[in-house]
This record gives sequence, C-alpha cells and structure tokens, in this order.
Amino acid sequence: MSIAFIDLQAQRAQIKDKINAAIASVVESGAYVMGPPVREFEAQLADYTGARHALSCGNGTDALHLAMSALNIGEGDAVFCPSFTFAATSEPLPLLRATPIFVDIDPRTYNMDPVKLEAAIQKVKTEGALTPKTIVAVCLFGQPADYPAISEIAEKYGMSLIADSAQGFGGTINGKHPTEWADIATTSFFPAKPLGCYGDGGAVYTNRSDLADTIDSLRVHGKASKGDIEQREFNHLPKYLNTRIGVNSRLDTIQAAILIEKLAIFSAEVEKRQVVAERYTTALDNIVDATPYVKDGYRSVWAQYTIETPERDRFQEHMKKHGIPTAVYYPIPLHQQPCYEGISENGDDLSVSNDKAGKVVSLPMHPYLEEDTQRTIINAVADFFKG
Ligand SMILES: Cc1ncc(COP(=O)(O)O)c(C=O)c1O
Repeated sequence: MSIAFIDLQAQRAQIKDKINAAIASVVESGAYVMGPPVREFEAQLADYTGARHALSCGNGTDALHLAMSALNIGEGDAVFCPSFTFAATSEPLPLLRATPIFVDIDPRTYNMDPVKLEAAIQKVKTEGALTPKTIVAVCLFGQPADYPAISEIAEKYGMSLIADSAQGFGGTINGKHPTEWADIATTSFFPAKPLGCYGDGGAVYTNRSDLADTIDSLRVHGKASKGDIEQREFNHLPKYLNTRIGVNSRLDTIQAAILIEKLAIFSAEVEKRQVVAERYTTALDNIVDATPYVKDGYRSVWAQYTIETPERDRFQEHMKKHGIPTAVYYPIPLHQQPCYEGISENGDDLSVSNDKAGKVVSLPMHPYLEEDTQRTIINAVADFFKG
C-alpha cells in the first residue's frame, strides 16, 4: 500500500457522483466563463467567510495581484511580507514596481513576527526613500497570522493589510476570518490546498465595497465597474468601456461548480483535519524537536503538518525507505532568492527564517488519513528520533 502525501482520490471517492454531475451540467449549459455557478459560489464564499464581498479569479497569485492593484500599490511603495512563505506572496510586487521588504517570522507559528514587522516599518520610515504602504501577512501552513496585532500596526502607520490565506482558507481567530482585520484576504483553490478545485482557481474577499468594485473591474480587463457607470449616461453600451488597465483572471465555471460541491463538505473536512493533527501531536509531542504550535483561540485548517529536525535529509531518506512521502516548505526564504537581488530590502534580523528553512519538514496530511496509516507514519517518525 502506498501512502499519499495529500490523498485527493480519497476525497473524490466520497463525492465523485456529485462532482461529475456538476461538471456535466456546466458542459451541457455552455456557460463556460462567468456562468451562474460562479456567482453562486461567490455568494457561498462570502457567506462562509462572513465577508461582504467575494470575487473569484484565476488563481491565488492573481488574487494577490488584483488585491495589490486595487490598493494602488506602485513605485516607491514599501510592502512588508514574511520571508518564510511561498514565492507568490511577494511575486506581484516587482511587477507593480513596488519594493518588497522581507520580515522575519515567529519561531513557533512560522507567521510574520509583529515586533520585527514594526521595527522594519520604522527602519523604512527613518531611511525615507520609500513609503510604507501595505502589509501582506500569510496564514502559513493553515494557521491565521496574528491579525489583531498586525492590523493595529497597520492602523498606527496608516497602511493597508492583505491576508494571504492561500493555505489558510477557513482558518479563524476566535471564530473570525481574516477579513475581520484585513482590508482584503486572498486565497487559492490549487488542488492541494485545503479547499482545492480540479485545476487553478483563486478568490479575494473583503468588506470594502470600493475594493470589491475595483477588483471586479480589474479581473475583466479593467471594464467599467458598477461604481464607474452609476449615475452616468452613455450613448453606447458601457460593456466595452474600459476605465483602468486590468487583466483576464476569472474562475472557470466548471471549477466553480466543483467548488460548490467541495465547499459543502469543507467544514466536515476541517474537523477531520483537526483529528489527524491531534493524533500526530499526541503521539509525537515528546519525541520530535518541535510539533506545530497553534495559538490560543486560533483555528488552523492544517494545510500542512510540519515538524523540525536539523538532520532533515537523513530523516527524509529514512521516511522514504518506509514508503512515506515528506515535503519541505520552504527550503529557501524569499530574501535569499536570486530573483530579489537588488529589488527588495530586508528587516534587520531574518535569523528565524534562515533557521527554519534548514529544518522544517512536513508529514502526510489530509482529511482522509486513516488511523492505521497514520500509526505507520508515526512509528517511522518515532524510530528516527529515538534511534
Ligand atoms: C502562501 C501562498 N500564497 C499564494 C499562493 C498562490 O496560489 P496559486 O498557486 O493558486 O497561484 C500559494 C500557493 O501555493 C501559497 O502557498
């Protein structure tokens, strides 16, 4: 029996008939782009997250790009991101001619450290060359960033806040989703994400009607938005009126139809992920160097279950010999990536990001991980650490 790192087929076995029917219905309808399931899914997304507006788009990277564009991020702006994250978090910034400022993470949650964030903002302010504009915090591995503390800092310095929740969709702090604190949250429906589709997909959600209106325009070539045409008279159809330079980034109707079926079981899946995570933590807490730490009142959706060992290569080799896949997220922090040479700046101390990049390793994690299979994984991990 082979063990999957993320078992998408196990989920498919549960809802295959519903998904196949949903796909067939879109194929029959012919409404392949922006068909009714897209609006239906967006309404469900807003309802689930409690945000006033939810807009889907092509993928999680586009979601960030759209959010950053709507916030008017551009040349001369400093945008603060954690260094220990996936490449997409800061990737749109150079395209918008803004400067990423990489900030260190909290050693226990792997999320942006608010104290180091504030120090980095003050440094940029003192230097005076750039304007501190926006903070992009990430819900790494599924746990929300410290949005209450980070949003206070954003407010203090008059900055906007984006929650990159590509890995953390569904994660909450005292029952609240990140848009309780952030101007915009973004997410990804990449298949391996907690809520994944059958291809690429993404979304932004926000309580701010002005941003939702702008993003609705930007995602369809900058077409005139509701706000652009309200109370104006036209002697032509405003459908082809373009009020800003946008992109083409829409969620396919087929993906929306799939996501409607997946969202219906998502809360139950998050519960199952909690059970799997708890089983790992109970068994491994006294054995491995570090098990994941979830802050009081925070709910992780467990995109990853990540442990640490300085002997990572040997550990991965050992697990492989037992037929168990592992993965490293992320071996190179963004401030060390060659693509940022000369176009980014760093907070003073990135020692935690540097340290974690050399140690972290993730174990198989998905809602359908059977107890027996998990026992096999736990035994193999314990063998390594005890041996
Ligand atoms: C933290 C983070 N942000 C953004 C993205 C980008 O999402 P997508 O792959 O849908 O573009 C990812 C995807 O892995 C991610 O992990």
